Amino acid sequence: MSFRTQPLPPARLNRCQLFGPGSRPALFEKMAKSAADVINLDLEDSVAPDDKAQARTNIIAAINDVDWGAKTLSVRINGLDTPFWYRDVVDLLEQVGDRLDQIMIPKAGCAADIYAVDALVTAIERAKGRTRPIAFEVIIESAAGICHVEEIAGASPRLQAISLGAADFAASMGMATTGIGGTQENYYMIREGQKYWPDPWHWAQTAIVAACRTHGLLPVDGPFGDFSDPEGFRAQAMRSATLGMVGKWAIHPSQIALANEVFSPNEAAVTEAREILAAMEQAKRDGAGATVYKGRLVDIASIKQAEVTLRQFELIGA
Ligand code: COA
Ligand code: MG
Repeated sequence: MSFRTQPLPPARLNRCQLFGPGSRPALFEKMAKSAADVINLDLEDSVAPDDKAQARTNIIAAINDVDWGAKTLSVRINGLDTPFWYRDVVDLLEQVGDRLDQIMIPKAGCAADIYAVDALVTAIERAKGRTRPIAFEVIIESAAGICHVEEIAGASPRLQAISLGAADFAASMGMATTGIGGTQENYYMIREGQKYWPDPWHWAQTAIVAACRTHGLLPVDGPFGDFSDPEGFRAQAMRSATLGMVGKWAIHPSQIALANEVFSPNEAAVTEAREILAAMEQAKRDGAGATVYKGRLVDIASIKQAEVTLRQFELIGA
């Protein structure tokens, strides 16, 4: 065990991030009234190039005028390989009040990408006398991004979360699929004549989770494109939760309740976590470091596992 203790991630809920194009302002009030923990107003790939300027205007007005309640409010800016991103940052930070919490940087490829946006944001915050620093979240969605994910995760104290962007990631990797996340028909193994579908996103997800946990960030699963397939969404979300991710994007309102359900520990999980802590308290009183709970070993590591569930449960209660 390293003597450096692992930092805790920001103490806020991130079970569902709901996206909406900045060019569809009619959606903004509906997004604000939704049950998503995080709102992502999009300036990037859901907005056509000719609509970028109008989308910026729409988003700035909505940040100032719409009642977003207690949600984390984030805007996805354009990538650093476009002519749009600097204007996104400048207009947003010069024209919105303190209500904007976060900027999402897409297609992060190296730590210097984050540094560049940080430098610009810092200068504008100083010029405007903004006292509450804007947080960052990034999307890992390229070969370069996943290769450099650890340095990206440590690139700025503004960083709070990293998402996996399955579609751009697949394209960048040259993966033979047009699906956005989920099971891929041609990615299968055969045993005794039976097909079995492993998870092609597993490696990228665990790399993101490890980088996030190392630096105290929230690891998030990105979009699931087929919003007519709730069971597929649920299966993908449960795999992500099992691997340590804390939430998932919704690209349609029908996905919000699914994400909230999967990333909220249910009653059975909370009861089990509490019983494990109680069993370990008893073990401590008995002078033992390990004991038996429902026929299986629990020890000091089990306390930390149970605390993961209970921390999330307490956040939801708060
Ligand atoms: N947020 C809130 N409400 C939304 C919504 C969203 N992202 N997308 C759709 N709705 C609303 C619709 O306005 C409609 O409301 P109504 O019942 O009051 O009329 C209802 O949900 C059903 O919408 P539906 O007709 O099924 O969808 P659509 O054809 O209007 O839009 C998409 C479908 C996928 C184009 C749209 O959901 C969308 O743009 N999603 C976000 C895409 C995005 O931001 N991508 C970037 C990240 S990958
Ligand atoms: Mg993308």
